[in-house]
Amino acid sequence: MPFKLKVLIFWLSSTIFGVFLLSVFTDSVHPPAQSLRASETFLSEDNLTLIHRLNCSVEPLLSPKHNLSKEAFKWWKQLQLERRSFVTYKAAVEKLFQIFPTGPDLPKPCSDTTKTCSVVGNSVNLKRSHYGPLIDSQDIVIRINAAPIKSYEVDVGTKTTYHVMYPESARDLDNSTHLVLFPFKIQDLEWLVKAFTTGFYGMSYVRVKSKIKANKDLVMVVNPAFMRYVHAVWLGNRGGYPSTGFMALILALHICNEVHVFGYGADSEGNWSHYWETLANKNLKTGLHAGQHEYAVIERLADEKAIVFYKGWAFPLTV
Ligand SMILES: *[C@@H]1O[C@H](CO)[C@@H](O)[C@H](O)[C@H]1NC(C)=O
Ligand SMILES: *[C@@H]1O[C@H](CO)[C@@H](O)[C@H](O)[C@H]1NC(C)=O
Ligand SMILES: *[C@@H]1O[C@H](CO)[C@@H](O)[C@H](O)[C@H]1NC(C)=O
Ligand SMILES: *[C@@H]1O[C@H](CO)[C@@H](O)[C@H](O)[C@H]1NC(C)=O
Ligand SMILES: *[C@@H]1O[C@H](CO)[C@@H](O)[C@H](O)[C@H]1NC(C)=O
Repeated sequence: MPFKLKVLIFWLSSTIFGVFLLSVFTDSVHPPAQSLRASETFLSEDNLTLIHRLNCSVEPLLSPKHNLSKEAFKWWKQLQLERRSFVTYKAAVEKLFQIFPTGPDLPKPCSDTTKTCSVVGNSVNLKRSHYGPLIDSQDIVIRINAAPIKSYEVDVGTKTTYHVMYPESARDLDNSTHLVLFPFKIQDLEWLVKAFTTGFYGMSYVRVKSKIKANKDLVMVVNPAFMRYVHAVWLGNRGGYPSTGFMALILALHICNEVHVFGYGADSEGNWSHYWETLANKNLKTGLHAGQHEYAVIERLADEKAIVFYKGWAFPLTV
């Protein structure tokens, strides 16, 4: 089958099933099941190392200090078929900054930071890894979506600096953890405000938490322009849009000079699941995201020693 046709079919089925997939997939990435030809082409487009794609002038967080370009809004708007206008978007952002802090305290991107990061995906390959202390020993620990800690401490650690999520994947946080929202539609910005105030009673493709427990003073919202940059520069625009797990990893490259990556990919037998639950469909990969390609980029970054990639396979599961 011609590659373009495959992509089209994948895209169509992703669009149709995306709504269901979004409710179950985890936003981690899965290792390639088959040929990586497409990824290899992209990855060899230039002979520079991938880490050269890091663009420190892209602002990771929304702030009142700069405005989203019309082009970036246009890109963002089609992610989940937003129908409302740029004006509505701007009004929603303005409302955000009436209740959340305006001076986000992410470490300055790409500066001479000496900070180290752990980025913790949700893969089953964390099980029995005993990575907990290693994860916690980095300055900053980033966790993703539903990620539970209680009763998994030995393998996933206990510390969380930033917990990235979107409304449909939201969970309550403790008082010292930053909630980092990845917004995919205007309603997500509205949800954030309402989840901290009156409660949210709208509809989405799955049930959404009406209220959230987290420290309001530590809330941050990711800039749609940053998401677009990850898609364009790091993935060559492959897939519908990048998974939250992949974006979290690129975010870590922007704020830490040493990035340790855990819990991405499948287990040693190629099964796809979360560390806390077994997914019925073990081949789920990452839904509408370009999972294979994301995984190839992560492996390449590891080859370049731009990240340290822990696959959990050094500790084989012996059942
Ligand atoms: C990239 O390729 C060009 C020509 O093909 C060569 O001159 C250059 O040294 C290469 N750069 C690296 C970093 O390998
Ligand atoms: C880096 O990002 C800035 C801001 O989006 C953009 O103006 C600039 O062209 C980018 N640089 C490169 C090398 O792509
Ligand atoms: C952003 O937009 C607002 C109004 O739309 C304008 O007042 C402000 O000057 C703009 N800020 C920047 C940094 O361009
Ligand atoms: C959470 O932290 C804030 C300071 O950031 C403090 O004022 C508040 O009392 C804390 N709340 C709880 C429940 O510990
Ligand atoms: C992986 O999936 C296969 C097929 O469902 C199953 O037989 C096997 O036990 C699974 N492996 C692990 C480590 O869960």
